[in-house]
Amino acid sequence: MASDLHDSSEWQKEPAPQWPEPEFRGHRIPGYRYHSHEFFHKEWENMWTKVWLLLGRATDMPEPGDYQMEEIGPDSIVMVRQQDGSIKSYYNVCQHRGARLVFNEEGTTEALTCPYHGWRWELDGSLTHVLDPEDFPEGDPCDNLKLEEVACEVFAGFIWVNMDPDPEPLKDYLGPIWDEWSAYEIDDWKRYVAMTAHSPVNWKVILDNFNESYHLPTVHPQTSSRIEENYKWTQFDMAPEGHARMWMRGGAPSRALIGTDEPLMNESLEDQLKRWELDPDDFEGREYETREEIQQQMRKLGPERGYNHFGNLRDHQLTDTYHYFIFPNFAVSVWADGFHFLRARPHPTDPTKSVFDNWWYAPVPKDNCEKVRTINGPMDADADCEHDEFNYGEKSLGLLIDQDMGVTTGQQLGFRSRGYKGVYLAKQEHRIRRYHELIDDYIEGRRPLKDQANKIAAE
Ligand code: FES
Ligand SMILES: [Fe+2]
Repeated sequence: MASDLHDSSEWQKEPAPQWPEPEFRGHRIPGYRYHSHEFFHKEWENMWTKVWLLLGRATDMPEPGDYQMEEIGPDSIVMVRQQDGSIKSYYNVCQHRGARLVFNEEGTTEALTCPYHGWRWELDGSLTHVLDPEDFPEGDPCDNLKLEEVACEVFAGFIWVNMDPDPEPLKDYLGPIWDEWSAYEIDDWKRYVAMTAHSPVNWKVILDNFNESYHLPTVHPQTSSRIEENYKWTQFDMAPEGHARMWMRGGAPSRALIGTDEPLMNESLEDQLKRWELDPDDFEGREYETREEIQQQMRKLGPERGYNHFGNLRDHQLTDTYHYFIFPNFAVSVWADGFHFLRARPHPTDPTKSVFDNWWYAPVPKDNCEKVRTINGPMDADADCEHDEFNYGEKSLGLLIDQDMGVTTGQQLGFRSRGYKGVYLAKQEHRIRRYHELIDDYIEGRRPLKDQANKIAAE
């Protein structure tokens, strides 16, 4: 098949619908945003407590009494499966004298019993047992207290939580993400890798990095044989709701390799071809045709391997990377066979630290018919996932993420310099500017989505 490798229309045969370009205010993103306690406090009070946050996995807590606990900044949220099958979320705090109720990250229980004085909080948040109830001058606590509930909804198998007492619906908040992710049927995908690193960087340093691909050729040169690294062939989108998307072609070498001495085919692309029963040798001299043939093979072999969702996807979604940023702290690369979950949560008190989750979810193949592709290499379909939590530097987070974190830790140091005047951004890095401007919107009392909805309602 002859094709002009420099002709962008060749790549644009099936464009993803483009999202409208937002307006920018030209934020310079000064360094204090990454280390100031005052800014950290403003973010917590005005932004973190007003947005939807991806916190738990509903499909991992199927039975009444199953719970999960996640920490976010200074707070902790416990999510509990109810008797009627719904899920409720609570601040993880006893209303007697403030003790934390739950310390395990997950479990099953009949009730949340406080470790301090033994008050028993039922799954629905009601209080049914206290010691010496007659001794409370304000009345029996069971008649007067409930656990403090937090709004939560389930989407894509995940539990999304919002500390705002009157949040917009999650579907509105997610905007175009809702329909795009629904096609992948992520609800039943299983977590295969879970690494959590306590990291010496502000949470935004991590998300800035996942909001641009400008660093790929320098920080991850090994990806060029399988992913299109060249920004000219990448589609960048920003949704009015504040989220972003990047569409990078995969399943073929980057066009940046044309005219270089670098081999077009490498082990990673060869593995991808073999996985779909294609012979790498057949593509000698026509390496740029791998993408289309992999797509055809995935269409053919996907259903018999149990990947029925392939039928919902556009051709390029079978091979390409869709990298999403969900405001404010979640980034994910979504493939037809993998969901690379990248989340940074603020440290409880220190703006120069964060908790970074590097996880991997994948659809489970039918009858264990093949190994599952993960960031830690191929795994058995029924493999258990151990949650590995450690301090950054103690263990590898995988080559790609080690490369990312290596540069971001140096950047965190640079943000303290009196010589740093703020960013000077390429257009392909504009998603960084956009989300910082959105943080300021929240801090300054604007609520992009609600303000927009109110404006439309008033017209
Ligand atoms: S603090 Fe929970 S029972 Fe006293
Ligand atoms: Fe990276």
